[in-house]
Amino acid sequence: MRQTLNVKIGENKEYSIDISDGGFEKLNREVYELTKNQKRLVVMSKKVYKLYSEDLNFSDDEIYVFPDGEKEKNYKNYLKILNRAIELGLTRKDVIIAVGGGVVGDIAGFTASTYMRGIDFIQIPTTLLAAVDSSVGGKTAIDLPNAKNVVGTFYQPKKVFINTNFFNTLDNRQYLSGLGEVLKYAFIEESCKHDVPLFLYEFLTLSCEKIIQREPLTLIRLIEYCLKLKIAVVSEDEKESGLRKVLNLGHTLGHALETITKYKKYTHGQAVAYGMFFIFDWAYKKEYINYSYYRLSLDLLEKYGFKPLDTYYPTDKLIDIMKKDKKATSDKITFIVPSGKKQVKEIKLTPFDVEFALKDM
Ligand SMILES: NC(=O)c1ccc[n+]([C@@H]2O[C@H](COP(=O)([O-])OP(=O)(O)OC[C@H]3O[C@@H](n4cnc5c(N)ncnc54)[C@H](O)[C@@H]3O)[C@@H](O)[C@H]2O)c1
Repeated sequence: MRQTLNVKIGENKEYSIDISDGGFEKLNREVYELTKNQKRLVVMSKKVYKLYSEDLNFSDDEIYVFPDGEKEKNYKNYLKILNRAIELGLTRKDVIIAVGGGVVGDIAGFTASTYMRGIDFIQIPTTLLAAVDSSVGGKTAIDLPNAKNVVGTFYQPKKVFINTNFFNTLDNRQYLSGLGEVLKYAFIEESCKHDVPLFLYEFLTLSCEKIIQREPLTLIRLIEYCLKLKIAVVSEDEKESGLRKVLNLGHTLGHALETITKYKKYTHGQAVAYGMFFIFDWAYKKEYINYSYYRLSLDLLEKYGFKPLDTYYPTDKLIDIMKKDKKATSDKITFIVPSGKKQVKEIKLTPFDVEFALKDM
């Protein structure tokens, strides 16, 4: 089965996303067709290289094997990829291809957007998280030691190929991480301004078992729904000046937890899930949402195996990190909060309010 979605951003940026299951022959053929007249630099994560280099038709000469882990998404590795592009003689007409999770997608995209002021970029996401989120929408980034994703660009890919086959080798922790971002879409659906209701929340409730079992056709539908919501948002607001902020539900605390634990303890989606528990709790206490919706939302998170944060971190340190977040203003910290069923809105809290909320968690 195959599903194709089109993304149109502004007047002249357009690309398509293919979502399919089955073998890799078709993927190989299509990548070849799309890039046959170009030199290619393929940035592939180490784990993905070990698992899939024989299935994918890239030659070792054009592959840059990227070390695994969020801590590798840094400027030193960015420079190494740039140097590899120079060694291979890539020109403005050539292409960088990311094969891996969000880390590889973000850093390879950042390289493609800056090398010779921008060359073609293709995303082949191999984690669920990258498929439903980071491979689409054009955000690229690298981290600084104490600030995640602070250096980056908005740069749209030329094409995204998603194949659910890749997800069979994800360990449960990584698969669950993708589900953290998936659940986020269910809680923001109404705010995404998609033209027709997709009922993602209901789909996630009814198809939980098949999703946990990674049933390919269910996954194709799941990814399709999430991406339709993401496309609706980024088509209206490419550069996060308004609507796009809704995608940050759970992310203010989530990013702070990733940073305070030096990106080692929590996966991105797990940290976002903790952030969602926190903000649902806060929104209920402040009467932004009623008890019934609050309970249903927590039930859905728990159905997929997520639990509220049970580790204490010093609130002053978390707040210091949140103040450095790209979304923060000089004296306020920005949160996306549930404001109704499947709806969210942006609010700005003082560090004092945040401290109180964290202590009340
Ligand atoms: N650009 C965006 O819009 C955006 C959105 C969300 C998240 N992100 C970024 O994405 C990153 C997280 O991405 P992630 O969760 O994919 O993590 P990741 O890229 O670190 O991948 C997780 C691990 O899974 C391995 N892996 C990848 N594919 C595999 C497969 N098919 N089988 C087995 N192992 C596999 C990787 O090698 C890595 O070790 C973060 O840096 C986050 O900031 C970006």
